[in-house]
Order: sequence, then C-alpha cells, then structure tokens
Amino acid sequence: MITSGGERANFGSKLGIVLATAGSAVGLGNVWRFPYMTGQNGGAAFILIYLGCILLLGIPGMVSEFIVGRHSQANAYRAYASFTKGKAWGLVGILGIITSTIILGFYAVVAGWCLQYLGVSLVGGLKGDTDFVQQYFVQFSGDPVKPAILGIAFILITHFIIVRGVRDGIEKASKLLMPLLFILLLVIVVASCSLPGASKGIEFLLKPDFSKVGPNVFLEALGQAFFSLSLGTACLCTYASYFTRHTHLHYSASQIAVLDFFIALLAGLMIFPAAFSVGVQPDSGPSLIFITLPNVFQQAFSFMPALGFVISIMFYALLVFAALTSTISMHEIGTAFFHEELKLRRSHAAWILTVICSVLCVFCSLSVGRSEIGIFGTSLMDACDWLTANLMLPTGALLTSILVGWVASKTVVREEFTNWETSRGKALFPFYMFCVRYIVPVCILLILMHQFGVI
Ligand code: TRP
Repeated sequence: MITSGGERANFGSKLGIVLATAGSAVGLGNVWRFPYMTGQNGGAAFILIYLGCILLLGIPGMVSEFIVGRHSQANAYRAYASFTKGKAWGLVGILGIITSTIILGFYAVVAGWCLQYLGVSLVGGLKGDTDFVQQYFVQFSGDPVKPAILGIAFILITHFIIVRGVRDGIEKASKLLMPLLFILLLVIVVASCSLPGASKGIEFLLKPDFSKVGPNVFLEALGQAFFSLSLGTACLCTYASYFTRHTHLHYSASQIAVLDFFIALLAGLMIFPAAFSVGVQPDSGPSLIFITLPNVFQQAFSFMPALGFVISIMFYALLVFAALTSTISMHEIGTAFFHEELKLRRSHAAWILTVICSVLCVFCSLSVGRSEIGIFGTSLMDACDWLTANLMLPTGALLTSILVGWVASKTVVREEFTNWETSRGKALFPFYMFCVRYIVPVCILLILMHQFGVI
C-alpha cells in the first residue's frame, strides 16, 4: 500500500495514480501510430481485429500486470522476481525495462516532431498546398540536427519532471487536459468529415473489407493493441505498485482500455476523411498524421482561418502533453529499477536512462527515411518500432500471463483480483483466470508462430 512519506510515495498522489496510468496509455500510440497502422493494414478490418485483441488479450493482460505490480510493491525487476519463488521471473521485468527504454528512444523522435509542428504552427509556417505540406515533412524529418535536438529536448523534459517530483502537477493538469484533448478531437473529426470527398475515408474506416487482410495483420493489430495500452513492458506493473488496496484492478483496466480505444478511433476519424479528401495515401506510414493534419487545419477551417490557427496550436500542444504523460511512464520503469536495485540516487538513476535514450533517439532520428542506418534492411527507427511492438511486447505479455495463470499462487491472484473478496466484480474471476491461462497465451503464441512461418 502507498505509505505517506518515504521514497516510493513521492511518485504520484493517491488520487492521481489511475489517472496517470490512463495518461500512460493515451499518447502518440493512439493519435500517430494507430492511424498509420490502420492505413497500412486495410482499414476497418484491421480495427475489428484490433478491438478483438484489446478485449480478449489486452484487458486480461493489463489486469495481470496490475496484479504482479500491486502485490509486490516494487520496481519491475523485483516485482517479477518476488511474485513467486522463482527468481528467474525477474528477467521478465528486465526485458520490460529494456523494451521500454528502446520505445522511449524512438517515441521521443516522434514527440520531437510534434514539438516542431507546435512551434511552426505558432508562427503560421504550415500554410500551403498538399505538396508543400508533404515536402515540409520530408525535409524537416530528414534534417540531421533539428529533429534529434527536439527529441533529446523531449527526453530532458521528461527527466526533469521525474527527478523534480513535479508529477503531481502533471497529474492534476491531465485531469483537465485529457478531456480537453477529447473534445478537440471531436471538433476536428467534425471538421475533417465535412471536407469534400470525406465519405471515402469514413467508409475506409468503418466498412470492413476482409480481402485486404494480409498475413501480417493479426500481429500488427496485436502489437498495436499492446503498444497503445502500454502493455508488455512492466510499465503497468510499475504503476500498479503505487495503487492502493482499494483500486479495482479489472474495473480500472477496462475503463482505461475503452478510453484508449475511443481516442484511437477518433484519431482515425480525424485523419482518414481528410486524407482521402486531399489525396494523401492512407498507407503513407509514420508520416501520415504530419502530412494530413496541416491540410485539415487549413481547408476545413478555410471559412475562418483564425479558428484553424487556434485549433491547430491547441491540438499540437495537447498532443505534446499526451506524449509527455506516456514518456514519463516509460522513463519511470528504468528509473525505479536503477534507483531501487543499484541503490543510486533517483536523479542519478534517471540520468542513466536519459543518456541511453538520448543516444538511441539521435540514431533513430538520423535513420528516418534512410534504410542504410538500420538493421534487417529497414531504418533503425522502423526496426525499433517493429521489434518492440511486434515481438518484445507480445513476449512480455505472454510470459506475464504464464506467470500469473500457471505459476503463481491462485490465492494471491484471487485476493488481488477481488480486492480481498470485497470487490463486486468477484464473479468475473473464473472468466479472468480462463483468459489468462488459455486465451491469452494460446492466441499470442499462435499469432507469433504464424508470423514466423511455423504454422
Ligand atoms: N501507450 C502509449 C501510447 O499509446 C505508449 C507507451 C507508454 C508505452 N508507455 C509504454 C508503450 C510502455 C509500450 C510500453 O502512446
């Protein structure tokens, strides 16, 4: 339980910790990664599979991480190592720490792009036709210096917040800013859908065409679901170690998952109608939102350019904020580990992570659009993205479900799930156990085996 005073309690207010977990989930994964994944994987059919992954694998997976974290009240490594007698399970925590460090490295690059777009919309520099907007992105993201500096700046901001303990303020702010982001998304969705030819985009998103479902789609949907829920890196476990005995784990997990799904769906409804309207290819990849949004702000608000100006600034600012609540969570996993296991001061622990992530961020940024800086014939940025989401997160979630479903004491799991038999959701426990023991591991294994050609 969170005690008042003491190092661990500094991390977040009691009130804000579930909110902080939601803040971790909602981020660029929803607004940037989800639309581009959907665009590359055929639209509506992908979304249906994605929804299936969230409901069947995501929510039980979140609850499992919550159980490990709240029971152990420790950093990712210690939580896994002490959950059962087998110390070797601590390696799952270590895998999570490595995964989240890599994710932070490339995530910061995209967060840096958002900072740039915030700055440039403030000075009104994104005015022009579709070609201009596309060229702007190619030129900016291909620059060797500026995006890297912005990425590092983003990591430093995260570092500062974690070390100075100003998280409380961030959590309070997110109570206001998250709903604001939601409302702004709704406004932009309406604007985007009113563009000429937008209906093709809506159709693309809502009318499934299973003939477009390629062999990779299941793994991509699984990876996206885990990425968006912050699942599979012990991030949720670390956050849950600060939950109280009264936090209803299954209820919080479902709430966060539903919220996360709707924000992603809204982001899709914001991007695709506009993309189809202005002629941006839906499968443009990671650049998709950056080459579509400036067009929305100009064209959908052409009747009142000042409104477009204000909305664009608010939107990028809120996106930066949403990204920040996510980077804080990724940073915290490693910081808590180095601080508690190596007995370093929290600020020193944080510096280790900041330096590693910054180096990775620079190489990822340099590799954008250049496959020669990379591995397996793809740029380092794309390789990190693919490897973490499609391999490391599913592996982390798979091992967690085996630990909770098969290895751990059922009494402990039941106590955590039912809040020591006080929760009204007690009746769900057998269903949860069935998911964790069979559905989650079998589905993840089948999807991974399918991807690697075993079946
Ligand atoms: N879920 C966040 C997003 O959608 C990203 C994120 C934060 C994350 N923490 C994580 C992804 C840990 C994987 C693991 O933007």
